[in-house]
Amino acid sequence: MLRVDPTRPDREAIARAAELLRAGGLVAFPTETVYGLGAHALDRAAILRVFAAKERPATDPLIVHVVTLDDAMPLVEEMPRVARDLAARFWPGPLTMVLKRSSRVPDVVTAGLGTVAIRAPSHPVARALLERARIPVAAPSANLFSRPSPTRAAHVVADLNGRIDMIVDGGATDVGLESTVIDLSGAVPAILRPGAIDAGALQQMLPGLTSRRAASTGAAAMPSPGMLAKHYSPKTPVVLHGGDRATAVGLMKRDARQRTARGESVVVLAYTEDLSELGTLGVQVVEMGAEARPDAVASRLYAALRECDELGGSVILVRDITTSHPLSDAIRDRLRRAAVQ
Ligand code: TXA
Ligand code: MG
Repeated sequence: MLRVDPTRPDREAIARAAELLRAGGLVAFPTETVYGLGAHALDRAAILRVFAAKERPATDPLIVHVVTLDDAMPLVEEMPRVARDLAARFWPGPLTMVLKRSSRVPDVVTAGLGTVAIRAPSHPVARALLERARIPVAAPSANLFSRPSPTRAAHVVADLNGRIDMIVDGGATDVGLESTVIDLSGAVPAILRPGAIDAGALQQMLPGLTSRRAASTGAAAMPSPGMLAKHYSPKTPVVLHGGDRATAVGLMKRDARQRTARGESVVVLAYTEDLSELGTLGVQVVEMGAEARPDAVASRLYAALRECDELGGSVILVRDITTSHPLSDAIRDRLRRAAVQ
């Protein structure tokens, strides 16, 4: 574990981490979205260790991280005009583009697909590491497969301790939810995973943008493997209540009372605005930030889900976010997936 200043990371520490990556080691590091588990993208053996450490199915491809669009060129068959424009606007940042891949990218990275996902992260630690390593770095989120993504080094330790070579601890990540994944490899551009860059911002440059999010439930024949419905889940089952605020709070209270009466141990994951109302239920409550501040909810959501797990209840009750914000779509998506059994 190497602790670094998140805005001005120590050069020595970055050099050690970069050397390890170049040599085929597994290094977890912070990005602006979540912590990634990095490995040399062109080193097949290193990539196989990433899948093993995460217990990730080989059918779920990895995102390759680069510093600039130029670094992405050798990885793709062609760089469409729209990809250049999107990179100019959103890179470095939380936008992942799926493009037709070149033969340089190992099959294990792309799960045998004819495409590769690429992004240039903006976090100073991620950038310093990539600049120093001078290699493309494949990095899935640094959690065990299907668990909530890690937004702090402690989450990486909890999931992967003893399975990886190094953790660069740059404190809590900023956004807290993963990058937006957009497929530019077909005739029609499509959002595969809503994320930190919202559809509205992308639609300005891609008027024909669609969304391909109909989640599949099995591992076979997935249009995008990351669309597996169940994902980002705590170990405890999650029940999501929908509707407007008053309706959803009412449903949650009734659900909590009925379950408590049946002897269940209920944990409520609550917006700050609901604390006083839900606090009277006599169940365990974890706060996930103010509904009026979706950016704060996004940055705390995964940590809050992990905290709920630690309380050891039999169920987690939560309600959908109703406020409109560029991050609301991504929050809603993660809440839904956490709640799939
Ligand atoms: O914010 C992020 O994107 C973080 C940080 C570390 O960069 N990374 C991340 O990676 O969330 P991961 O592996 O947890 O999620 C990658 C997603 C998965 O849903 C995967 O299926 C999808 O990207 N993906 C990767 N390559 C793809 C491809 N060629 N075609 C379609 N989907 C792809
Ligand atoms: Mg992940």
